[in-house]
Amino acid sequence: MKALILSGGKGTRLRPLTYTGAKQLVPVANKPILWYGIEALISAGISDIGIIISPETGDEIQRKTGNGSKFGINITYIVQNSPDGLAHAVKIAQPFLGDSPFVMYLGDNLIADDLTQYLQEFKEQNLDALILLRKVSNPSAFGVATVNEKGEVLALVEKPKNPPSNLALVGIYFFSPQIHRSISTLKPSARGELEITDAIQKLLEDKKLVSARQLKNWWLDTGKKDDLLEANRIILDTNLTAENLGRIEGNTQLIGRVKIGKNTKIINSTIRGPVIIGENCYIENCFIGPYSSIADNVTLTESDLEHSVVLESAQILNIQQRIVDSVIGQRAKINLVSKRPKALSLMIGDDSHIELT
Ligand code: TTP
Repeated sequence: MKALILSGGKGTRLRPLTYTGAKQLVPVANKPILWYGIEALISAGISDIGIIISPETGDEIQRKTGNGSKFGINITYIVQNSPDGLAHAVKIAQPFLGDSPFVMYLGDNLIADDLTQYLQEFKEQNLDALILLRKVSNPSAFGVATVNEKGEVLALVEKPKNPPSNLALVGIYFFSPQIHRSISTLKPSARGELEITDAIQKLLEDKKLVSARQLKNWWLDTGKKDDLLEANRIILDTNLTAENLGRIEGNTQLIGRVKIGKNTKIINSTIRGPVIIGENCYIENCFIGPYSSIADNVTLTESDLEHSVVLESAQILNIQQRIVDSVIGQRAKINLVSKRPKALSLMIGDDSHIELT
């Protein structure tokens, strides 16, 4: 059994972060989203993983993730020259996949369920495809499945205007090599992509064995800011254990589960967990509230922050209003200076969002 993680794509919904980096490397609780997928596949017993990368962000993904040795597995990188669809990614991965069954995993998806149970059912029942479904309130944004009372899949449709059900396809699929034959018959869809939903629909039409399971626990597609913050909240809530490798000085209080990395200095501040703070950070006269993740080399002074993700080397200085529900990019700087006349002075990247109240 192999796995194929899709880590190419454009990432338009997570701009501006994705102008300079891969969305799959954006951290959730200070760990790249992609690595959660790798770890989930490893715990299901898979040790041969192919990763689809784009020419734009592939180098960074390879540099950070490596050849798999840090996870004790083999990773093979496959460059997809343009994001021509999920089924196109499988097509170009065929030399890597050979005639092995495989798990296809979208690199920006996170689920709470263990994959082992689904993998076992896929193998035991000799299925050609096992898809995972989850009820959603906005099915038009997803691939949608129609299933009968027995849970058998009747039809699939990609991002329908009038959704036939509220069951969305989660970004994790189990396939037999039969899927390659279906993909070879596909034509690009109206949006110009080879759609994996069309390939599975073709399996159904050819009377192949396609089955579906509904996820029991949460599923997040972290491709948008609010989903990213929600993933950060859930992972901090469920996975974080307190640890302090930094230096705490003055009147600093650590409340609840707080994890602090090496060479981080915290002076006269209150940190109310769950909060994770990386290495080499400097924090003085701050309140950092629940569900915040601060990456390495961040400076925070005279500021309040809550339910936010701050990326590497950002600086937040003297902000007198509380910062909430925010994602602050790498090396971004927010500073309040006491200068007259009072005015906002901004240098903001394309597609940035700023809300002032
Ligand atoms: P999407 O989130 O559907 O596509 P995207 O990355 O282009 O994002 P956006 O809609 O914000 O522009 O893709 C799901 C995952 O699959 C994601 O990790 C990127 C990856 N992917 C590929 O590797 N190749 C592709 O051709 C496509 C469409 C996606």
